[in-house]
Amino acid sequence: MQSPAIELTNLRKTYRKSGKGAGETEALKGATLSIPQGEFFALLGPNGAGKTTMIGILTGLVVKTSGEVKVNGVSIDEDLSLAKTYIGVVPQEFNFSLFENVQDIVVDQAGYYGIPRDEAIKRAEVLLKELGIWDKRKDKSMALSGGMKRRLMIARALIHKPAILLLDEPTAGVDVELRRGMWKFLRELNEAGTTIVLTTHYLEEAELLSRHVAIISKGNIVANEPMKELLARHGDKKLEDIFLEMTSDDPTP
Ligand SMILES: Nc1ncnc2c1ncn2[C@@H]1O[C@H](COP(=O)(O)OP(=O)(O)OP(=O)(O)O)[C@@H](O)[C@H]1O
Ligand SMILES: [Mg+2]
Repeated sequence: MQSPAIELTNLRKTYRKSGKGAGETEALKGATLSIPQGEFFALLGPNGAGKTTMIGILTGLVVKTSGEVKVNGVSIDEDLSLAKTYIGVVPQEFNFSLFENVQDIVVDQAGYYGIPRDEAIKRAEVLLKELGIWDKRKDKSMALSGGMKRRLMIARALIHKPAILLLDEPTAGVDVELRRGMWKFLRELNEAGTTIVLTTHYLEEAELLSRHVAIISKGNIVANEPMKELLARHGDKKLEDIFLEMTSDDPTP
């Protein structure tokens, strides 16, 4: 049988601060999730719930405290480098050089995966055209608008044709028209077989795009089911109301 795209078992992360004001934050308190191949999966939760921490662990940026993480059946404890090749990530914060031009940012990323430069240049052209920033290819990234920077990070994430795309709030600060363009792009990518994990605070976006939803609240997974079932179980309620009920400290009946 095919391995799930992502499998988390009892995943915990405690951040420890040292020095003055020392303390602990339990960002993930035993998260268990299985995301099948080809899924379009929404990972929702309020600020500070643990979403970016989970994505950070999957990409090797954050070291887990305990639990098991498998990507395409490969444990990150056994072969993190291999596990990372299956993943493309669009981080929440812009993290590219502001002084490099758009094309170089995308092409240079391919080097990490051993993709020859001429092949990377061809792939970058396709991606930058699809994402509508081809005419900006020679501009320094600092000259891009916020929405263009998000699209640049999507192009960069896809240069090695990953099986799984993790998107951490990709449409934050993106205008309505551009957002719709991104939705179309992501849908087509998913239809072509890429597993997509999306975190977003725009709940209508999650509802529109995702087939499965998990809600995380203070490091705990409080919902994990097909989007349709979650909505059906709550009658006529909007996803926003369901979300608030599940994540609020003082849920109103
Ligand atoms: N590097 C870090 N050091 C210490 N604490 C951290 C660190 N990164 C995150 N945290 C804490 O871990 C918790 C989870 O943070 P995380 O960034 O994963 O949340 P999030 O769900 O992505 O939130 P948001 O929707 O605001 O992006 C928060 O309490 C946060 O303050
Ligand atoms: Mg976050």
